[in-house]
Amino acid sequence: MDIAVDSEIDHHDPVALRELLGRFCSGITVVATEGPAGVAGFACQSFSALSLDPPMVLISVMRRSRTLPVLLERGDFAVSVLGSDAAEVSATVGGRDPDKFSRVPLAWTGRGMPVIAGSLAWFDCSVTRVVDGGDHVVILADVNGAGPQDSSGDPLLFFRGRYEQMARPMPTVPTAVTHAATPGIASAAAAAAVDGAYREPVGALAGYVPGDWF
Ligand SMILES: Cc1cc2nc3c(=O)[nH]c(=O)nc-3n(C[C@H](O)[C@H](O)[C@H](O)COP(=O)(O)O)c2cc1C
Repeated sequence: MDIAVDSEIDHHDPVALRELLGRFCSGITVVATEGPAGVAGFACQSFSALSLDPPMVLISVMRRSRTLPVLLERGDFAVSVLGSDAAEVSATVGGRDPDKFSRVPLAWTGRGMPVIAGSLAWFDCSVTRVVDGGDHVVILADVNGAGPQDSSGDPLLFFRGRYEQMARPMPTVPTAVTHAATPGIASAAAAAAVDGAYREPVGALAGYVPGDWF
């Protein structure tokens, strides 16, 4: 039997639309390149796998990003997939401080692209196509190199405008031990551990400009 949806927003209202789009949980990447003035880049949620053969990925970039012209001029960039310990890195690179890359740990690919040291994964890319995407442009890119070979870390997540990390069931660990052994767990998290699901939000967005992104 068909049933009607229970409610609908005004999808031309950017605030309401942003709130709904923010219900799509994703990882977070840093997209970075090197231009004449040094490293340029931004925190990027809209990274996606695109093709395995040939290897391709895509990102979408706000037209007013200062990185965009640098990236298009250079034609190369790297994507770093952030681990759960990198909320501060995301907040820094997602801000507008011109000197922001002096405050994050960088490593360099063999092709000379900057990546965030200790990332879960990195992809060294070159632009193949730029597609109109309203107030963004979509960049399709070839993957020229990728690493590291091994990584066991958890991802940094972004959901409803907040940084989160993956919930891990801890059914075999007594609550008291869990709480004592893990400094900083709030009582709500300890309570969640009773149910076998430990979940500690990483926290609200430090340095994030509301309205700049979902
Ligand atoms: C978690 C998060 C995800 C973001 N995702 C994107 C994105 O996918 N595309 C984009 O253009 N900006 C995104 N932004 C916003 C940019 O990182 C931000 O506007 C940055 O200041 C742009 O820097 P730039 O002007 O130096 O390029 C995101 C910001 C945050 C905090």
